[in-house]
Amino acid sequence: MTNLDLYAKAEHLLGIEEATEALYDLYRSELEGYEVKTLLDVGCGRGGFMRRMMSDGVACKGVDLSSMMVAECREQGLDAECIDVSEVEGTYDAIVSIFDVLNFLNHDALLAFLDAVAAKLNDNGVFIADINTRYGFSDVAEGSMSNDTDEEFLSVDAVFANDELHTKFTLFEKGAEGCYTKYQDTIVQYFHPLKTFQKLDKLKLIDKQTFSLYDTKDKTLLIFKKK
Ligand SMILES: C[S@@+](CC[C@H](N)C(=O)[O-])C[C@H]1O[C@@H](n2cnc3c(N)ncnc32)[C@H](O)[C@@H]1O
Repeated sequence: MTNLDLYAKAEHLLGIEEATEALYDLYRSELEGYEVKTLLDVGCGRGGFMRRMMSDGVACKGVDLSSMMVAECREQGLDAECIDVSEVEGTYDAIVSIFDVLNFLNHDALLAFLDAVAAKLNDNGVFIADINTRYGFSDVAEGSMSNDTDEEFLSVDAVFANDELHTKFTLFEKGAEGCYTKYQDTIVQYFHPLKTFQKLDKLKLIDKQTFSLYDTKDKTLLIFKKK
């Protein structure tokens, strides 16, 4: 199992449903300012945002590097693929990467990702993404938590140092015969300064808004147009 699939397995125990819904509301209201008939959700997770936009009449496609996330999207009849954004066919009016997706990429991977996003945008297309601020990493994400149900136990330990957040996930899952299986892996997320986004070759940063998802200035919304 990859570390992203372990995240997929553990996500429902993280208590992020309310924050996710708040982000979806924000993205949806931002997109109202644009003519959007087609949308690509990169890092689509379980497809919650695609479902919302489809109910507004927008044709949606999602990609995610977790095959588990993609399988769940497909079970719900959504158009999703487990491929890198550079492999997506066609172009879109809007592309979104919601809830830290850009922080999963290191600096070089981020630049390649943003070039690929620009290549999938229609000429007047818009790309919207959110990133964690340093406060988001140090005040919100860093630390430990645990949660359990009758069938599972999750512990999460996150350490932020040198602009990297290393989050260790340990999940125990009860099997059919009452034995527990242990899964453990680490996800690294990278802080990106705003200047990284202000000098891109193929995307122009047209707006940025720092906002509080968790009572501190923990996130910045970035809005780009294709150059
Ligand atoms: C915090 S989750 C957010 C999921 C979804 N956007 C939502 O709001 O529910 C981050 C997602 O990004 C995916 N991911 C991470 N790096 C990615 C990449 N380079 N390309 C596509 N998906 C990626 C992960 O597998 C995970 O599903």
